[in-house]
Amino acid sequence: MKLLVTGGAGFIGSHFIRQVLRKYPSYSVVNLDKLTYAGNLENLREVERDPRYQFVHGDICDRALVREAARGSDAVVNFAAESHVDRSILGAGEFLKTDVLGTASLLDAARELRIPRYVQISTDEVYGSVDRGAVREEAPLRPSNPYSASKAAADLLVSAYWTTYRLPVLITRSSNNFGPNQYPEKVIPLFITNALEDRPLPLYGDGRNVRDWLFVLDNCAAIDLVLHQGVPGEIYNVGGDTEVENIVLTRQILRLLGKPESLIQSVADRPGHDRRYALDCHKIRAVGWKPAHEFGAALAETVRWYREHEAWWRPIKSGEFKTYYGKQYADR
Ligand code: NAD
Ligand code: DAU
Repeated sequence: MKLLVTGGAGFIGSHFIRQVLRKYPSYSVVNLDKLTYAGNLENLREVERDPRYQFVHGDICDRALVREAARGSDAVVNFAAESHVDRSILGAGEFLKTDVLGTASLLDAARELRIPRYVQISTDEVYGSVDRGAVREEAPLRPSNPYSASKAAADLLVSAYWTTYRLPVLITRSSNNFGPNQYPEKVIPLFITNALEDRPLPLYGDGRNVRDWLFVLDNCAAIDLVLHQGVPGEIYNVGGDTEVENIVLTRQILRLLGKPESLIQSVADRPGHDRRYALDCHKIRAVGWKPAHEFGAALAETVRWYREHEAWWRPIKSGEFKTYYGKQYADR
């Protein structure tokens, strides 16, 4: 099988590519990535010399390039996105371009080239905040921020290509991923690396918001399953079944690092901050998936990875990242 993976230099995409090349000796992967601030070829060192792997530097909005990269593919798996909620609150433009128009560009290429499978990597955030219970795939979309609105728009477009053209599309909507190689703007790597530097951990609002945590390799296994066994036109929720309040998570990280709780700094809440996400995952569980990693052990493994890979995150935090977040959040 020949795969076109987009956004493969980012967090989840790079784990997926490494997993696929390890698991399927006969597969090849073309990775099309723009290398935004979040794309990092260090994540793919392990495979860069593998003859089955090819990197193409470019934008999924570039329709000619996308057609060229996709030619001959058996499937497209689209991870490429602007993915951080806080950045989307500062400006929606890039989110609309990549997450919506980029998805349209990939769908059109898949249609023109008659690619037999298209997998869209989406998020539980499209359902909006879930006060009680858990949402199924048919639940209405009520995105709360520009990031989730752009992802919801993309999902609707993907589904419309199934309804209108019978393009064989599939969508996965996962909960919050964590693990090695996650850009240190997301809460877990941000808090681990801040704590390692004895810097404050900026906890939004009352710290009682709830996220459902999923180890990145479990999400990759779910995407693999949907790619191979999912039913075209269908959507699959992928949750970790591990709901944790942010304050509990923060204390757990500090405990793992042997750092004091005095590092926790309450800051103003994120505007439009969703209180809780919770997915009903019966559908994908019926296909044969469930998370294989226990949260506490996977969090400890993640903490260990950041401890042992300072060379990966220190350059990120001392560069553009610092000015961006230092300016926006330090003085709140
Ligand atoms: P990430 O920000 O780590 O990586 C995104 C990648 O996309 C980067 O390599 C970046 O260079 C690339 N990219 C951005 N714009 C591009 C463009 N125009 N053309 C080509 N490449 C481009 O993101 P992630 O956390 O790995 O998330 C991957 C996907 O999974 C996203 O679609 C995100 O919405 C979704 N998702 C993420 C999570 C999570 O917890 N991280 C949870 C659910 C869903
Ligand atoms: O739910 C899936 C989504 O998870 C993905 O679609 C997104 O791409 C991904 O970024 C993530 O979104 P969240 O907004 O849930 O993740 P984030 O790590 O930004 O925040 C997690 C929680 O921690 C959230 O309640 C906000 C809080 N938080 C976050 C940051 C960055 C803080 O309290 N302080 C912080 O500095």
